[in-house]
Amino acid sequence: MSAPNSEYDPVEVSSLHPDEVARMVSDALSAFEAARDLDELKQARLAHTGDRAPLTLANREIGALPPQARKDAGRRVGAARREVGEALARRQAVLEAERDERVLVDEAVDVTLPWDRAPRGARHPLTTIQERVADVFVAMGWEVAEGPEVEAEWLNFDALNIGPDHPARTMQDTFFVAAEGADGADGADDSGLVLRTHTSPVQARTMLARTRQTADGSGEPGRGMPIYVICPGRTFRTDELDATHTPVFSQVEGLAVDEGLTMAHLKGTLDHFASSMFGAGITTRLRPSYFPFTEPSAEMDLQCFVCRGASVGDPERPCRTCGSEGWIEWGGCGMVNPRVLVACGVDPERYTGFAFGMGLERTLMFRHGIEDMHDMVEGDVRFATAFGMEV
Ligand code: PHE
Repeated sequence: MSAPNSEYDPVEVSSLHPDEVARMVSDALSAFEAARDLDELKQARLAHTGDRAPLTLANREIGALPPQARKDAGRRVGAARREVGEALARRQAVLEAERDERVLVDEAVDVTLPWDRAPRGARHPLTTIQERVADVFVAMGWEVAEGPEVEAEWLNFDALNIGPDHPARTMQDTFFVAAEGADGADGADDSGLVLRTHTSPVQARTMLARTRQTADGSGEPGRGMPIYVICPGRTFRTDELDATHTPVFSQVEGLAVDEGLTMAHLKGTLDHFASSMFGAGITTRLRPSYFPFTEPSAEMDLQCFVCRGASVGDPERPCRTCGSEGWIEWGGCGMVNPRVLVACGVDPERYTGFAFGMGLERTLMFRHGIEDMHDMVEGDVRFATAFGMEV
C-alpha cells in the first residue's frame, strides 16, 4: 500500500487550475448574457451550474486534494460558483422583467377598437307591450283572442253596425283586397276582404264563436257567456307615414259581455289598465264620442303627463304634448250596441257588454316619450335595444 502523496499539487488537476476556473466562469457568464429569454437562460443554467457543469465537476475534485490544497481550491471554486450564481440571478431578474413587460404589451386589450361581434337582436317594444297588456288582463281572468289581419268586410264593418253606406265607413280609410284577376278599375273587383281597420271585428268573431250552434248539431257548440277577451293585434288604414301616423299600426281590443255590466265596469277596467300602463295615480276621463258599434260611446283621455293640465288657459305655459288641452286621447270605448249583440247572436235583453280599443303605438309613445312614429316602424335594432331584453 503506498502512502498518500503529500507532494500532490492541486494545480496539477487541470480542472482546478485558476485559469481553467476563470475560463469556466467566463463561459458561464457569457452563456447567461447570450440567453435571450428565460428558456435559453434555463439551458445555460443547467449547462453551467447543473450536476454535469464543469464547475460542479471541478468542485467534486476538491475532496480528493490534500488539506492545504483543498482550502485553496475550495476558496477559488467557491468564489467562482458564487460569481456564477450572482450573474445568473442578475440575468434572471433582467429577463423576467423583460418577459413581464412583453406580457403587458402582448396581452393589452385596446378598448378603443371597434368590436366585431355580431350584435344581438332585440324584441320590438310593440311586441313586449302586447304581452304586458295581455298579462294585465289575464291576471283579471280575461282570455286572449286572435283574429285575422285580412278580414271579411262584413265583420270589419257590417257586423259592427257600419253598413255599406254608413258615413262612419269613411272614418276609417280602408285597404281593400282586390279579387283574384281583378284590374282594380272599379269596386266590383272587391274580394269582400279588407285589411282590418281596427281590432273590433274580433268582438264580432268572439261573440259569434261563443253563440254559434251548428245547424245539424254536428259542430262544436259555442261556449257561451260570459265573455272577457282581449285582442292585441295589427291594424291598417290608408294613412301616410309621418311623425304621428302609420298605415300599419296596432290596437288592443277588449270585450266583456255578461249580465249586468255597466259603464262603471268599463271605467273601472280602463282605469286599472291605464294605471298598469302608466303608473298608479294617472288621472283619466271619459269624453262622450260616437262609434256605430257602441252606445253610449266615449273616448278615454289621460291627463297630460307633461303639464298635468297646468297649461290649460295659461298662454305663458303652452304644452306641446297635449296642445295645451290638458288631456291626451288614448282610445275609444263604450257599451256594445245592442244591434251588434243581436247580429252576433247574443240576447240583448239578458246581456250587456262593454268594449274598448286603444292604440298601442300611442301607448308606447306616451309611456316612453317617443316623439316620432318613424322610429317605431323602421325596425332599426338600435331603437328596439333601448327597451332592454324584456321577455
Ligand atoms: N274600433 C275603434 C277604433 O278603431 C275603437 C273602439 C273599440 C271604440 C271598441 C269603441 C269600442 O277607433
